[in-house]
Amino acid sequence: MKIFIDTADLDEIRELASWGVIDGVTTNPTLVKRSGRSFKEIIDEIFTIVDGSISLEAVSTKADDIVKEARKLSKIHKNVAVKIPMNPEGLKAVKILSKEGIETNVTLIFSANQALLAAKAGATYVSPFIGRLDDIGQEGMQIIEEIMDIFNNYDIETQVIVASIRHPIHVIEAGRLGAHIVTIPPSVIRKMVSHSLTDKGIESFLKDWAKVKK
Ligand code: E4P
Repeated sequence: MKIFIDTADLDEIRELASWGVIDGVTTNPTLVKRSGRSFKEIIDEIFTIVDGSISLEAVSTKADDIVKEARKLSKIHKNVAVKIPMNPEGLKAVKILSKEGIETNVTLIFSANQALLAAKAGATYVSPFIGRLDDIGQEGMQIIEEIMDIFNNYDIETQVIVASIRHPIHVIEAGRLGAHIVTIPPSVIRKMVSHSLTDKGIESFLKDWAKVKK
């Protein structure tokens, strides 16, 4: 399973990439705004930190404009995957871009049917948003199970990026369902790395070692 980091915060990306666990990055307009940096500052640096797929979001709403914007974004670096919203205009754009070999990540997916249509249009990745479904009282992980079943039944090559991750259990569930990628906020990656028994164990080993004659 690949792990992407879901943030535009360069310091967090740099730190967590140094752990050797990050295969790619996903950003969105909200994450870019939250980083407090300009889009230019981010794209000037992000590709030097992570050598893997980096999703940058197109913000146009009409297919022709999305295509133009995606072509521009894809020229920034060979690792760009252009995030495109899941709607009819987005699908039209994905169809054109996939023929041009431009990688696309169809975002804001909330049902298996949306994922299927995005894959049919030629999406490289689909991003189902699990946490936002949980937030409204639906079982987000249910759609990952459905999508994986459908994609496996038909050997669909589109990769599933489980997105809108809220806690470490989401990551375990996504892995058990065989999702290709999970994109995780830095705060959740930090929760994944720690366990109180690990900390306690280190502390007592160090204490005992200090008492050993060397
Ligand atoms: C995915 O690529 C999105 O950036 C992200 O997972 C959205 O998650 P949110 O619901 O926490 O905003």
